[in-house]
Amino acid sequence: AQLQDLAGDKVTKAKDMAFVFDIDGVLVHGDRLIPEGKRTLEILNGDNELGIKIPHIFLTNGSGKLEGPRCEQLSKILHSPISTDQFIQSHTPMRALADYYETVLVVGGEGYKCREVAQEYGFKNIVVPNDIIAWDPTIAPYRVFTDEERATSNPRDFSKMNIDAIMVFSDSRDYATDMQIIMDLLQSENGRFGTRAKDPVSQRIPIYFSQGDLLCPTEHPFPRMSQGAFRIGLEAMYKALTGADLERVVYGKPELATYKYADEVIASWMEQIHNDERLPSNIYMIGDNPASDIIGGNMYGWNTCLVRTGVFQGGDNDENNPASFGVFKNVLEAIQTAIKKEI
Ligand code: G3P
Ligand code: MG
Repeated sequence: AQLQDLAGDKVTKAKDMAFVFDIDGVLVHGDRLIPEGKRTLEILNGDNELGIKIPHIFLTNGSGKLEGPRCEQLSKILHSPISTDQFIQSHTPMRALADYYETVLVVGGEGYKCREVAQEYGFKNIVVPNDIIAWDPTIAPYRVFTDEERATSNPRDFSKMNIDAIMVFSDSRDYATDMQIIMDLLQSENGRFGTRAKDPVSQRIPIYFSQGDLLCPTEHPFPRMSQGAFRIGLEAMYKALTGADLERVVYGKPELATYKYADEVIASWMEQIHNDERLPSNIYMIGDNPASDIIGGNMYGWNTCLVRTGVFQGGDNDENNPASFGVFKNVLEAIQTAIKKEI
């Protein structure tokens, strides 16, 4: 009976915890598995001493793809099923903006994938930079525009419509063109090409960025510049050209709105796994980037674990944003230590 009580007590404790995973630099590098990631998910999916699932969600600043296909791709790489119900990309919460803006410029990402993302989110009239170049190639004087790009673009007369907002969904594949087009729109009268606003602030359309990471770990030995670096470039250009500060909204980690959204996802995932939608008392965030995963998790009261498989390459702990639960060699070591502490 005593043994049964002990097991029952452990199950109760296990049901009061959840994990939040960063993806790039924790579970994968690009499309390459970080080996400990596979075992980590097996354990949380029930291959543990209690034989129960431990809820976990994925909170990535990654972007540029539809949630469904990205989950399928990650399920293959990690050899564990990942559901869209436990998955948040940087632009996932931006779905709500479709209720507010009819015509949007969507920037970033591979080919036309971000157009598809915006369509799925419910935006009605979607414009991508290539549509604008196909309409007027002189807008981007150094851009080489291929026949294939022309054939797949959707030019319209942009001198006759207003663009209501700019959404940077993912990393720009062509800084020069994208920055030129964004600067044109930010200086226009209410988002109309071919106009210049008399007042740069009151007639300016809003701009949203899906995340603010300066750096992203990739196959390259040193992390590469990401959306945050692109945004800082734009802000500096805007200030130099207009004298005004660029107001903007940033989503993704470590922004508060993203953590609030994550709470909703954790609660509904708790309901699916444990039939109880209460938020667990112990939430552990596992991340590799002190400036997004760790600072955000710390501010939100989560236990934070910093791993050495991604952006962080420092000593005992990060000096500016130390992980509250500690620094670990990899994700497996982090979850094993957390489970040992809680259960
Ligand atoms: O910064 C770009 C992005 O790829 C980072 O993704 O999963 O580390 O938040 P993640
Ligand atoms: Mg990361």
